[in-house]
Amino acid sequence: MDAYEAIITKRDTREYEARPVAEEHLQRLLQAARMAGSSKNEQPIRLVVVRDPMQKQALAACGDFTAHLSSSPLVIVVVRVEGSRPFDAGRTAQNMMVAANALGIASCPVGIQHDEPAREVLGLPDDQIVAMAITLGYPKGGDRPQGRGERRMSLGDFVSYERWGQGAG
Ligand SMILES: Cc1cc2nc3c(=O)[nH]c(=O)nc-3n(C[C@H](O)[C@H](O)[C@H](O)COP(=O)(O)O)c2cc1C
Repeated sequence: MDAYEAIITKRDTREYEARPVAEEHLQRLLQAARMAGSSKNEQPIRLVVVRDPMQKQALAACGDFTAHLSSSPLVIVVVRVEGSRPFDAGRTAQNMMVAANALGIASCPVGIQHDEPAREVLGLPDDQIVAMAITLGYPKGGDRPQGRGERRMSLGDFVSYERWGQGAG
């Protein structure tokens, strides 16, 4: 799968096989995340790998839409230092999820709305904020996540040229 295909076929998938993500795959995902650029190369992002069932359950209680989190074989929490740009966390997370898709690993970002309890579960220092949790695993029912490309607006609605609302002309 080339980079373009890995990007455009990536769908957020919440059902995974129970088997763990292979260690060599995990290491590739972590490297893909580490190599994301950041503003001024400040590298304000850290990851916490969560596989322990009790930790997953505790983390699930820190978000409002986390129904599938406890049953995901792997959760990687993207953490950013206070005052850093959310964009840096987004780049890191997307690097990881696209690399995962290319390896046949499905994923889904999961919002962690309750920061204080999440901080406690993960033992984060005071200056660290949970940006996002990412659930990952081999997708159930096939070797690739199912594409749902029709769930996006048209390119015409999405893009303007030169000024807002202007078509390509
Ligand atoms: C910032 C952000 C937060 C999200 N939070 C959750 C979440 O808490 N729980 C969940 O199941 N999905 C979550 N999602 C996944 C979205 O529902 C998903 O990206 C969207 O429905 C598009 O899915 P698709 O790529 O499969 O079409 C989140 C996505 C983003 C980008």
